[in-house]
Amino acid sequence: MSMTRNGIADLDLKFSQMDVSDIVFVADIERRNYEYPWTRTIFSDCLSSGYLCTVANFNDKIIGYSVVSTTSHDAQILNLCVDKDCRGLGFGEKIMDLLIEDIKSRGLNEIYLEVRSSNIQAIALYKKKGFELIGVRQNYYRDHNGREDAKVFFLNTKKIGYKQ
Ligand SMILES: CC(C)(COP(=O)(O)OP(=O)(O)OC[C@H]1O[C@@H](n2cnc3c(N)ncnc32)[C@H](O)[C@@H]1OP(=O)(O)O)[C@@H](O)C(=O)NCCC(=O)NCCS
Repeated sequence: MSMTRNGIADLDLKFSQMDVSDIVFVADIERRNYEYPWTRTIFSDCLSSGYLCTVANFNDKIIGYSVVSTTSHDAQILNLCVDKDCRGLGFGEKIMDLLIEDIKSRGLNEIYLEVRSSNIQAIALYKKKGFELIGVRQNYYRDHNGREDAKVFFLNTKKIGYKQ
């Protein structure tokens, strides 16, 4: 896909709630983009559990998705992915913006997430959106060499000066 970041109008990216019929495409993207991918069953369980599952379509093709769980007082971003060929074009940030708006519209302001310590791109995105590092879970993830730490990030959308 040859595009520049400036060539993408907001209208080009369309969001919809993930449907069961999307899972086969989402799981394909998941396999291409994670070393330890979620299975179709996990996505299916997320849908049945009522998690906020969103797909992002570009030119009628799913290019990314997100999964968020909520409680009565906070939200946790469990998955956020943009397909390899479509990265670096602003899609990940647009998905995050939508997520944050969606979470806020449900009356929730506190958002948590965990990310591999080595995931520089995702960490840069989270910091750009105002997330702060609040902790480390040691040896949380599997990796080639054994285990890898998780960094825990937090955003309070009501914090002073926060502007998406
Ligand atoms: C993290 C991810 C969603 C970013 O998606 P993307 O569409 O490439 O991101 P964007 O183009 O919207 O970039 C937004 C910001 O992310 C950060 N970023 C994205 N790519 C980056 C890179 N290669 N290096 C450093 N920072 C990067 C930057 O802060 C960037 O803002 P900037 O362009 O103003 O510098 C994408 O890399 C991805 O899906 N990775 C695989 C799945 C994954 O690891 N998900 C996170 C699990 S916790």
